[in-house]
Amino acid sequence: MKIVKIINIYFKFLHLINFDKHRDFRKILIKQNASKKEDLYDYGEGMFYQSIPPIKLVGLRDTKRRAKKLKLDYYLKDKIVLDIGTNIGAIPLSVKNYKECIGIDHNCDVINIARKVSDYLVIKNIKFICGDFLKYDFQSKFQVILSLANHSTFDNGINDTEYYFEKICEILDQNGILILESHSPLYEKTSSYLNLVKVLQNNFDIIENGIYEFGNYYDKNRRFHILKKK
Ligand SMILES: C[S@@+](CC[C@H](N)C(=O)[O-])C[C@H]1O[C@@H](n2cnc3c(N)ncnc32)[C@H](O)[C@@H]1O
Repeated sequence: MKIVKIINIYFKFLHLINFDKHRDFRKILIKQNASKKEDLYDYGEGMFYQSIPPIKLVGLRDTKRRAKKLKLDYYLKDKIVLDIGTNIGAIPLSVKNYKECIGIDHNCDVINIARKVSDYLVIKNIKFICGDFLKYDFQSKFQVILSLANHSTFDNGINDTEYYFEKICEILDQNGILILESHSPLYEKTSSYLNLVKVLQNNFDIIENGIYEFGNYYDKNRRFHILKKK
């Protein structure tokens, strides 16, 4: 992970030399990120896991290119959306044309950053919950669910993938859309991911699928599927 630390030093430098109107706010976020309270892995390796384009925050994952590849502007438009394991909320803080969105993450440090950014950008139709997706009692169903690199997690927060997808099925509307992204093939065999999708086809039809051909090794070669609940 040494190379990631070097990338993050470079990212910190980028924040400092970028004199746009969000510079002071990014400095506040960097300070907040450095004073974490949780004893949980945040995936950012000292900086941020995700970039947030509206405030020019750089991160290890390229939010703009992910959103474009997954056609989120199209799939989220006017929908009621859930983002599982939202991290610092970069996806719903960047693609904002949904009707309502909930972002949930069990790490309160990343959720506090997401909340700070949504206040700063004055986004009213989003709610960030610090909670365990597997245990949380959602009061209503969703039209679109984002499961981006979340069906099993390195921090062991999601360790029962079968139950994870059962719960998704329960809280997704009929004909609802599940947007599924794999882990990097460096950590998840492509065959394992494709087997998961095969099982999901009992309850879902595949609308589209593809591979990320962009970015650094965090993004590159990940697979994704857009699935519609039968
Ligand atoms: C690999 S990261 C993916 C983040 C985001 N979905 C993305 O792709 O940009 C996994 C995220 O899931 C969160 N997480 C792990 N277990 C969780 C659980 N049981 N409930 C909610 N969030 C969880 C972690 O804190 C982390 O932010």
